[in-house]
Amino acid sequence: MRKNIVAGNWKMNTTLPEGIALAKAVNEALKNITPKCDVVIGVPFTHLASVNEVIDKSKLGLGAENCADHLSGAYTGEVSAPMVASTGANYVILGHSERRQYYGETSETLKTKVNLALENNLTPIFCIGEVLEERENNTYFDVVKKQIEEALFELPADKFGQIILAYEPVWAIGTGKTATDDQAEEMHAFIRGVIADKYGKEIADNTSILYGGSCKPSNAKALFAKPNVDGGLIGGASLDAESFMGIVTAFE
Ligand code: PGA
Repeated sequence: MRKNIVAGNWKMNTTLPEGIALAKAVNEALKNITPKCDVVIGVPFTHLASVNEVIDKSKLGLGAENCADHLSGAYTGEVSAPMVASTGANYVILGHSERRQYYGETSETLKTKVNLALENNLTPIFCIGEVLEERENNTYFDVVKKQIEEALFELPADKFGQIILAYEPVWAIGTGKTATDDQAEEMHAFIRGVIADKYGKEIADNTSILYGGSCKPSNAKALFAKPNVDGGLIGGASLDAESFMGIVTAFE
């Protein structure tokens, strides 16, 4: 059966010493509990190797927030999937709306990145979600379906089965305006149906679909109680160990 997962996405926050301190605090908090979910932190490239040294990887997974669409070579400033994997990381967030919006990432690029991640033993946490206009003009189901189809549906079933999805309505990211638990459930159930139509019910039932967008300790419980919401991708609230742990412990 699918896993519950709470993953932090630190984005472009924390200096290296601050990031190490935050990772240590989350690691420390996890020592005393057995959470009902897998816990992952997605951190800046510069922090990966150092954070890997200070966390217990049997309790806390480590991920990057992006990787390059090439394996190696003359791509100044880029960081490849093998480089990420060589730090000890085992996850990579791909297709975040901020990468799509500000850095022009397309389904075509993301398809390549997903393949490179999988080939290098990184589990993609693949983000999808509509912008406000698409929510308001009722095209949000089509938009999300297209994002999944274009970037992921050429994968063979065994590879698709390794992907974690994160539904993040763009209008809810960093805005304090969370999707309601019913809105999240409606979309997550739809996504699971799209997967079932392509790969069958078993793979659909085994795919973890996280919710992201202003998720915090106060709303996580209601969101995670929904049958198709398998956890969260957490931005702002992952920058404080206490609030992040408040979300980790929201599973009943
Ligand atoms: P937020 O970000 O929790 O700060 O809204 C979520 C995300 O962008 O992954």
